[in-house]
Amino acid sequence: MIEKCRLIEFSQKGDERGHLVVVEGNQDVPFGIKRVFYIYGSDKNVIRGRHANYNTEFVLINVAGTSKVKVDDGTNQKVFHLDRPHIGIYLPRMVWKDMYDFSEDSVLLVLASQHYDAQEYIRDYEEYLKMMREGKMERGN
Ligand code: TYD
Repeated sequence: MIEKCRLIEFSQKGDERGHLVVVEGNQDVPFGIKRVFYIYGSDKNVIRGRHANYNTEFVLINVAGTSKVKVDDGTNQKVFHLDRPHIGIYLPRMVWKDMYDFSEDSVLLVLASQHYDAQEYIRDYEEYLKMMREGKMERGN
């Protein structure tokens, strides 16, 4: 599954007036965008995320500053560096993610395929590993 996590380069429409990056749902990202949130003011030593989602796909973009994202599918891990405003990382459902090493000016924009539902978060890493080992990829089974 880890190979489904990938960087996406967005088209840049900048001109002499400055930069403009466009992200359209179902075109530039592989889902319709239902939710947008952003994370800023996180210290360098903070680790955010630490969860997997049953249903939600995400695209993360550092629109300012930098951060790192470690993805984990229970077998393999990979670290992505988010360091340019026109680069995003696509995360499928059921991948464990940690966001960390935030620069002071980091603004991490997150696009999500679903509305917020606390019930679809898996926040216990041991439980996540067990589910992945047993192939329990759906909520409630
Ligand atoms: P949390 O999931 O801990 O953020 P992160 O993934 O960056 O570690 O969310 C922090 C708080 O915000 C928590 O109380 C849940 C709430 N929240 C919402 O209400 N809606 C949302 O879309 C998100 C992402 C979080």
